[in-house]
Amino acid sequence: MSTFDLVIRGGEIVTAADRFRADIGVRDGRIAAVADRLEKGAREIDASGLLVMPGGIDSHVHLAQPAFGGPKMADGFETGTRSAIAGGNTTLLPFALQPRGASLRASVNEYHKQADGQSYCDYGFHLIVTDPTPSVLGQELPALVADGYSSFKVFMTYDAMVLNDRQLLEVFECARGCGALVMVHCEGYDAIKFMTERLEAAGKMAPYYHALSRPQVVEREAAHRAISHGELLDTPIMIVHVSGREAMEQIRWAQQRGLKVYGETCTQYVSLTADDLKGLNMDETGSKYVCSPPPRDRASWEAIWEGIRTGVFQTFSSDHCPFYYEGDEGKLNPKARTGFRWVPNGIPGVEARLPILFDRGVNQGRITINEFVALTSTNHAKMYGLYPRKGSIGVGFDADIVLWDPNRRETIRQEIMHHGSDYTPYEGMSVTGWPVVTILRGKVVAEEGRIVGQMGDGQFLQRDLSPYAKPAGRTFLP
Ligand code: URP
Ligand code: ZN
Ligand code: ZN
Repeated sequence: MSTFDLVIRGGEIVTAADRFRADIGVRDGRIAAVADRLEKGAREIDASGLLVMPGGIDSHVHLAQPAFGGPKMADGFETGTRSAIAGGNTTLLPFALQPRGASLRASVNEYHKQADGQSYCDYGFHLIVTDPTPSVLGQELPALVADGYSSFKVFMTYDAMVLNDRQLLEVFECARGCGALVMVHCEGYDAIKFMTERLEAAGKMAPYYHALSRPQVVEREAAHRAISHGELLDTPIMIVHVSGREAMEQIRWAQQRGLKVYGETCTQYVSLTADDLKGLNMDETGSKYVCSPPPRDRASWEAIWEGIRTGVFQTFSSDHCPFYYEGDEGKLNPKARTGFRWVPNGIPGVEARLPILFDRGVNQGRITINEFVALTSTNHAKMYGLYPRKGSIGVGFDADIVLWDPNRRETIRQEIMHHGSDYTPYEGMSVTGWPVVTILRGKVVAEEGRIVGQMGDGQFLQRDLSPYAKPAGRTFLP
């Protein structure tokens, strides 16, 4: 009988720190050995010519989120996680959203019902707090954080989710007390509302004006406000989906002051621009790219690369928030055709994240291969309480691995995607570097674009408190 259930042989292992040639031996779903030459395993995979990296962890995805009267999301757990593994990912952290008036615990239970037995990859939940009542802040949230839902998101915009400054402060105070990491959507609600009304009054209704309704200054102002609230209460915060220079520089400024402020950016902010939203009639393709914050311009791509290179951003996510394009549930639904404010915000991207970052980042010399691993896997695990179980290759880690062909040229097309949406915003992009085998806890789940795992292979992950959520110890509070 063999010592190993699986041996991955002859590949070049890449972690956030190292690159070396070795075999990997897997036993009971975990990495049991990494060595120059291992004995034969019950199953063998020849990885020569391939990079062997930790499976992607995407810590910002939306699946099966309630639509608040708007169109239905195109992905639940089945299709969203299927798309994830095809794209080289092994763990997702979607959001369990609390509809206003509902209990947080009930919302989490609802998400479990949607996910349990229906996931192709491992998953944990961030919470979304929309209704921070005394019982939510006093009991439910601390209890859920202790139960392994150790991060949550709050919104500074969107009618159904926005928190005012007083609520943000109360939520930050609660997070500090229970050790949760707060993710903040930084865009100013009133400014967007005001701009939207002015644009509509001027007859500017097409999808492109979505981008003009929330320019960078709106994101920068909100980022500064969130940073200030965090500083006042000594609450570490993660500013998510940063789109360009202005918010990036706010985070850098905060970090230089020694504040615990972290940054996330996403695929769309280095590969799409606001011009993609053009198509000035409501029935053209601009709505395919409507997301918030909106993609900016090529100068913003460079600012984002600067933030990546200089360590302002710790994580690179997809913000996969998939809607259909066609049909009554799609971005082109009859109401959405009447004005940009009704176009659902969000784009699919979980499957394209790794290839686009590899191509634009590693191949074009902007980041190293080790930084690629850190940005797409290791830092997500560390930031969100999954390390050292997930996020690297070493003895004791879950055997979550992607075999990557760095020379494989592909064109991203809807017909090769595995998500539920009927389009990809990255249609036609050529990339070099592609996931060829995805391994979840020692089991091959995707191979050459085919899903070979089973729905239900994915397990729920109870997460530890994030070490990054530890207060710095200098509050203004009495
Ligand atoms: O447009 C986007 N990104 N929608 C998803 C929700 C969010 O704010 O992350
Ligand atoms: Zn957001
Ligand atoms: Zn999001």
